[in-house]
Amino acid sequence: MRLKNKVALITGAARGIGRSIAINFAQQGCDLILLDVGQDIAGVSYSLGSENQLEHTAMLCRDLEVGVLSGLADVRDVEQIELIVTEGLARFGKIDVLVNNAGIATPSGKIVHDIEESDWQLMLDVDLNGVWRMTKSVGRIMSQQRSGSIINIASTAGLVGYRYFSAYVAAKHGVIGLTKASALDYAPLKIRVNAICPGSVRDDDVLEGKMLVEIAKAIKVNEQNHESLFVESHPLNELVECSDIANAAIWLASDDAVRVTGSVTTIDAGFTVK
Ligand SMILES: NC(=O)c1ccc[n+]([C@@H]2O[C@H](COP(=O)([O-])OP(=O)(O)OC[C@H]3O[C@@H](n4cnc5c(N)ncnc54)[C@H](O)[C@@H]3O)[C@@H](O)[C@H]2O)c1
Repeated sequence: MRLKNKVALITGAARGIGRSIAINFAQQGCDLILLDVGQDIAGVSYSLGSENQLEHTAMLCRDLEVGVLSGLADVRDVEQIELIVTEGLARFGKIDVLVNNAGIATPSGKIVHDIEESDWQLMLDVDLNGVWRMTKSVGRIMSQQRSGSIINIASTAGLVGYRYFSAYVAAKHGVIGLTKASALDYAPLKIRVNAICPGSVRDDDVLEGKMLVEIAKAIKVNEQNHESLFVESHPLNELVECSDIANAAIWLASDDAVRVTGSVTTIDAGFTVK
């Protein structure tokens, strides 16, 4: 029960890594505000999390006997964000943890000069600006509380380049920069800001995550055996699991990490060591 009496807001909670973090936080006694766009976004080549999937995450967490509020919001839309943040604050009275997990992997798959202006803007607006908007909304509350932990789910694409993924890579490098700069802004207010960089995370049927197969399609890796092809570049010879990310997030959210801020935790089965 490492997160008992804490309240966490998790974005992109309908499925995948977000769902895993929600369930693992609930197992640690954390009350939850779960947010997801809950519908597809024009320009993203695959289906995003649905309203039903968000409700399923909420149900799985309620079964663990924690308080759960869930709502639809697009991290591109300030009004939608403010609505759920205000509702969450009214319900729980505080927000201790913000997990900025919502993200998209496409539009991508093009050489940099072929990227459309609108595709570039979309990627940056969700994967980077969305993190800033959420920080802006919840950071105000945390600054009044004089406490808080913000956990930004970046990527190894925030540390190294990936071919034909420049918008995603730029957005995730931006998330690392935002993490470090806001860690400094917030240090006097006892708000900690840290980033987690997952490597290739195995899509999990139970968690209904879909990102890895979509990345494979975008870079034209055979989607039938994409896992074994991705594994080859990971020294530990296995892909990362969603629960690996959730375990790191529990630590960063907990009082065990009370003097950890501005850090970048890489969870990539050794991918970036080489
Ligand atoms: N899966 C991987 O291999 C991997 C690797 C490195 C980093 N990441 C990062 O981890 C995070 C989660 O990825 P995942 O693998 O669980 O992907 P996923 O597609 O399974 O889940 C992402 C969730 O975010 C939601 N979302 C997308 N755009 C949104 C928006 N504008 N507003 C609100 N919600 C939105 C989706 O609906 C979905 O439920 C992302 O930030 C991703 O970039 C994933």
